[in-house]
Parts: sequence; structure tokens; C-alpha cells
Amino acid sequence: MPIPRERFLSNVWRDGIFDNKVLFCTGGAGTICSMQVRAFVALGGNACIIGRNVEKTEQGAADIATVRPGAKVIGIGAVDVRDPKALQAAADRCAHELDGIDFAIAGAAGNFLAPIAQLSPNAFKAVMDIDAIGSYNTAKAALPYLVESAKKHRNTGNAQPTGTGGRLIFISASFHFRGQPLQAHVMAAKAAVDQISNAVAIEYGPYGVTSNIITPGPIANTEGMQRLARSDPESAAASRKAVPLGRYGEVKEIADATVYLFSESGSYVNGNVLVVDGGAWRTASVAASDSWTYPDFLLSGAAVEGVKDARKSRL
Ligand code: COA
Repeated sequence: MPIPRERFLSNVWRDGIFDNKVLFCTGGAGTICSMQVRAFVALGGNACIIGRNVEKTEQGAADIATVRPGAKVIGIGAVDVRDPKALQAAADRCAHELDGIDFAIAGAAGNFLAPIAQLSPNAFKAVMDIDAIGSYNTAKAALPYLVESAKKHRNTGNAQPTGTGGRLIFISASFHFRGQPLQAHVMAAKAAVDQISNAVAIEYGPYGVTSNIITPGPIANTEGMQRLARSDPESAAASRKAVPLGRYGEVKEIADATVYLFSESGSYVNGNVLVVDGGAWRTASVAASDSWTYPDFLLSGAAVEGVKDARKSRL
């Protein structure tokens, strides 16, 4: 069954903005990255997706290719982002078969919930290796091609006539913004990913390349949510309520953020973190508080009472 376009792309982007451009994406068969790639291909581009599982990656590529007649999408399986040689070979093959790499997404990630007491050194290292070092390996493999692309499609702020190129996005997380139990490994790894992106922005900006982070919040129907969130209706309702916008995000909203950063609209955005989470991470302290339940207390209009500096008179 083809995925309806409105599920992976808002109706605000112009067809053809990525014509003749190539996207290299690790973790590209995953629930979030596959929609980023699908959106890119729908808007004219071709792509290579990289993954560990051969069948999943090849099937994912074939499925994405159905989004646009004539689209070329290559699935390169049996590639672990922890293996820099295999990743470089995949990037070289992508560039050879599709004629360069104009955009890259470092999307491969590993996560599970575990307290430090149950997190072996090897478990910590596995996530550091996949997320942090794997993202670095992805950047290293793609950057020479991105520099070439940025030379051809100069970042002047006006993408006419050849469109944009030379852009890198890392997929990160917000756990390290404020601290999260059971996520020591991911907090450490994603903090590193954020800084790798910043370093690329500083060192490759002069070549016209941009590097940014997309930080998805709780996105519905994703592997991440299956792994990290309780699915019983009561817990799911409480966790949706803790998001200021009162809902989980949609994969389409991550794809839209990707198109924004890759297209002319994102030309002057470099070294940034684009958090697409409905405001979720900012509510950490209120969500944890049981005194003034969020957002019911705010919506009730009641005054804060029972503390030393409680309001004494009505406005
Ligand atoms: N709790 C605690 N430790 C865990 C664990 C869990 N839920 N899952 C794995 N580990 C430990 C393993 O026991 C092992 O440590 P040990 O050698 O000391 O026993 C270590 O992590 C590595 O596990 P292994 O299964 O060999 O690694 P892997 O490279 O095959 O898998 C993972 C990597 C663990 C990150 C795995 O979850 C994975 O492949 N994830 C990819 C998909 C994913 O997580 N997507 C994230 C979407 S948010």
C-alpha cells in the first residue's frame, strides 16, 4: 500500500526542488529516517539508504522509490556505522552510481532503557559507538562529496538556478538537555553528536557546507516510541499530556524539518539544533511535579496556594 503523501510531507513544498540531487542516509530504513528520505525523493531527489539489515534496507529502498516515477533509491545493507571502511565504501558506491552526494543524514542510532547499575561498560560503549562514533564516521564518509556539491551549488541564500547542496543533518535527542534516568548512554552519545555537528558547522561552513541537528521529540508510531515509552492507554495519555501541544508528533513533521534545512529556506541555518518536539523537553520539571499537575492546573485558572510566596490577592 503506498503511503499517502500527506503522511510524510506537508503541502507547502514545491515539487522538483531536489531534482538531480542525491541524499545519503544512514538508518534510512528506520521509521523516522525513511520518511525524511521519502519526502526528499518525492520532491525530486534520488537516495542511498544504509543499514545493518540487508533485507530491511533493500526493501525499504524499493518501497521509497515507488514515491516518484523514475526515482532511484539504492539500499545498501550489511553496513554498520561502527565500521568506517564499510561506510566509506557505501558512500563511494552511492556517489558513483547516483553521481555525487549533495545531502547526508546521520540517522542510525541505538537505544534501550537501562539504569547505570544494569548498564555494562560494553552496553554503554555500544550506544556511544553507534550514535557518536557512527555519526562521526558518516560525516567523514560524506563530507568530501558535500564539499564538492557546495562548490557546484553555492550557498548564496538564493538557490537559483541549480538548487541547494552540501548539507548535513544529524538526528539527535533531547535527554541530555536536562537529564533523564535510564538514558546515561544516550545522554552521553547525543551530547557528543550535537558537538560533532557544531564542529562540522565551524570547519566546513567556509566551504559552503551546513551542518545541523534535528532533535525529534515523542513521534507517534516509531521504533523509538516502541522502545522507550509505555504503550498502555493510561501511560500514553499521560505522556501526550506532558507535551505542551498535547499530542505526539508525526513523522511528517520531522520530514518537513528536513526539507526546511535542505532547501533554500534553510540556507543560513548552520550549527543549529532544531528541536521538533511540541515543546516537550521544556516541561520536564513540571511533568515531574505532582503538586501542580501539568497542564490541568494551568487550565483551571486556580492560584498557587500553600507555599510561602503564594499569591495573596486576585488581579
Ligand atoms: N539493557 C541493558 N543492556 C543491554 C540492553 C538492554 N536493554 N540491550 C543490549 N544491552 C547490552 C548487551 O547486553 C551488551 O552488553 P554485554 O556485552 O556487556 O552483555 C551490549 O549492550 C551490546 O549489545 P549487543 O546486542 O551485542 O549490541 P548490538 O550492537 O547488536 O546492538 C543495541 C546495539 C544494543 C543498541 C541494540 O539495541 C540495537 O541494535 N539497536 C538498534 C535500533 C535502535 O535502538 N533504534 C533506536 C531507536 S530510538
